[in-house]
Formats: sequence, structure tokens, C-alpha cells
Amino acid sequence: MSTGIKRALVTGAGGFIGHHLVAHLRRNGYWVRGVDLHLPEFRPTEADEFLLLDLREKRNAERATSDIDEVYALAADMGGMGFISANHATIMYNNSLIDFNTLEAARRNGASRFFYASSACVYPSHLQSSADVTGLREEVSHPADPEDGYGWEKLHIEHACAYYREEFGLETRVARLHNVYGPYSTYAGGREKAPAALARKAALAAPGGEMEIWGDGRQTRSFCYVDDCVEGIRRLTASDFPGPVNIGTEHLIAIDDLARMLLSIAGKEDVRLVHRPGPQGVRGRNSDNTLLREKLRWEPATPLWEGMSAMYHWIERDIARRGRDVAVSSIVPRAEEPHVRP
Ligand code: NAD
Ligand code: GDD
Repeated sequence: MSTGIKRALVTGAGGFIGHHLVAHLRRNGYWVRGVDLHLPEFRPTEADEFLLLDLREKRNAERATSDIDEVYALAADMGGMGFISANHATIMYNNSLIDFNTLEAARRNGASRFFYASSACVYPSHLQSSADVTGLREEVSHPADPEDGYGWEKLHIEHACAYYREEFGLETRVARLHNVYGPYSTYAGGREKAPAALARKAALAAPGGEMEIWGDGRQTRSFCYVDDCVEGIRRLTASDFPGPVNIGTEHLIAIDDLARMLLSIAGKEDVRLVHRPGPQGVRGRNSDNTLLREKLRWEPATPLWEGMSAMYHWIERDIARRGRDVAVSSIVPRAEEPHVRP
């Protein structure tokens, strides 16, 4: 620490956003320690040091946070709708242990800043029951009715971050990330989110064939390119605003339209979309970036087509490299879920 170079810990550094964040912090002059259960799947880590640790163990969190200035807490048991709708208890148990161990160890070890990766899944279901949804402003998260399991845990830890700031003076920063996508993301195996899943399906579709979509395809989302996401994380952590604040885009798009965009990028406009039952989550979700613009004087700017093209072409190349067999998703979608709980 005496060198003046900031020392950062990125947890979840073997994962999608975490490994991009490691590279981003390195480019911005940080010394970076990465921690995860595994190394990044698709390319080498750029971390100065990488520790394979299970953060559900308290002593591992203490080791991970020793001699660190800034903690970026991204480790989580997570995935797209297929995964988070089917594993509520496991997700809540694992992520609660990871998050509390990391937060408490960061405090004990004297970290100066603590970034927490929360989610748009903290927003109430009843505000997301229409495809033509109004953008979600941060204050509407209460009264609370978040996504089952995963969303409740995130909201709980958002509160813990505020308490640690007030009670112990730990400078916590919380961002609510909205569906992040880009190259080097999970695109098969059951944890993939819609952008990578649909890119995989587009890459595998036979010309003139079919492409399967969960639900009626009219459900909507906004998507945030990973380079914008890590830039936002660094800007927020350096700022004096604790959050929570959305990091996402206000570009709302129906899932069918996203699928058609990916088919167009793939040069397969003649592929027909077919709709099947599957886990859908909320009917519509969009970010409202008013607070983000006000506090950081910045917002994600990568055009959707540009970001989706970069992701699609990487997935196409990776399938060619590893073979089509690895790209067959193992998930069997369960019965259709209601859009809004009674
Ligand atoms: P990811 O699954 O690619 O990365 C998470 C990493 O955490 C994985 O590499 C995993 O091995 C690691 N991890 C899980 N359990 C662990 C444990 N016990 N000890 C140590 N490491 C462990 O997910 P991601 O998309 O990179 O998401 C990063 C963070 O951002 C997560 O906290 C996630 O909830 C949050 N987030 C992501 C999105 C998104 O769209 N990707 C949206 C909202 C919030
Ligand atoms: N994953 C996936 N795979 N989704 C599909 C598919 C498919 O093949 N076909 C259609 N969809 C639909 C889903 O049914 C859902 O309605 C929509 O695409 C978006 O699905 P996901 O990207 O899997 O999840 P999400 O947007 O509901 O939630 C994700 O983003 C949150 C933050 O905004 C998850 O990754 C959460 O973990 C994350 O916090």
C-alpha cells in the first residue's frame, strides 16, 4: 500500500463480469487480486494474483480481503432465468454466506471501499407486469417484492451495505446491474442469460430452420454491454455516491426482436422463431437512468447492435473452436411461471 498503487480485490474474478473488471482495473493502474472457485473459462485472467477460494468459508474471505484497499464483491451463485427460477434456497444460502463473509472481512481488514453488485431483480414484480414497462427508478424498490430467492438476497445485502456504512464507516457502493451481456459470457450449460442463449441458438440454427424462444417472445428487457458495466462500476466506486443506482440502458426491446437482431447479425433472417413454455421472470423490465446521469454524469452508451455483434461473433468463433456439442444447453425448462405472483 505504501507504493501508492491501489490494491483491489475482485471476487467472482473467474466469472463473466468479474474477469472483465479485473482487466479494466489493471488498465486503470490497479494491482488486482482475483478470487473465485475457478479460473476464467474462456481466456486467461489478467489478475496480478489469483486465489482459488470458496467465499462461503469465513477464513477464506479474511484471506481474500487482507492488504486490500478496494473490494469489488461480484462472487455469486447466479445465472439467467432458467437457473435463478429453479434454485431459490441454494442461491439464497450460498450468496448470503459469500456476501456477509466478504463484507465483514473487508471491514475487519480495513478496506477503504466496498463495491457490491446488486441486481435489477430487487425491483417489485408488480411494477414489471407489462411488456410496455416504465423504467425503474431506484426508490421504487420499496415496499419490497423482489424476484424470489436471488432478488431477496440482493436486497437484503443492499441494506447490509448501508448499515456497514452507517455503523462502521465502510464506504460501500451499490449498483443494480441490468442484464449484462458481451463476449466471454456463459452461453450454454443452463446458467446462460437471454442474450448469450439466443446468440448460441442463432449460431446453431440451420438456414431456413427454427429457433426456440421461451414464452411468447413479447416479454421485454434492456441490456447493458459489459464494457459499459465495468466502467460504471469503477466510476461509482470512485464517486462519493453510495447508491443504490441502476447500471443499465433505457433501450427496451422485446425478446423476439432481440432474437431477430441476432439472426440478422448471423445472416440467418430466414430462421423462424418458435415459442415454447419456459421460465420467463417478469413481463417487462427497463432501467431509468435519471439518478445515474445526475450522480455520475455518465451512462452506458454502447449501441445494442454493436454490443450484440461483438458477443455473437465471439460465441460463433467459440463454438467453432470447441465443437457444437459443448453448445447444447443442459437445461430443460420447467413449467411456465406466472408473470406476477398473486
Ligand atoms: P458469473 O456467474 O459469471 O460470475 C460469478 C462468479 O462467482 C462465478 O465465476 C462463480 O464461480 C463465483 N462464485 C460462486 N460461488 C462462489 C464462492 N462460494 N466462492 C467464490 N466464488 C464464487 O456472473 P456474472 O454475470 O459475472 O455476475 C457477477 C455479479 O453481478 C453477480 O453478483 C451477479 O449477481 C451480479 N449481476 C449480474 C448480472 C448480469 O446480467 N450478468 C445482472 C445483475 C447482477
Ligand atoms: N435465459 C434464456 N434462455 N432466456 C430466454 C430464452 C432462452 O433460451 N428464450 C427466451 N428467454 C426469455 C426468458 O424467458 C426471459 O423472459 C427473458 O428472455 C430474459 O431472460 P434472462 O436473460 O435469462 O433473465 P432476466 O432478464 O429475467 O434476469 C437476468 O437479469 C437480471 C438483471 O437484470 C438474470 O441474469 C438475473 O440473474 C439478473 O439479475
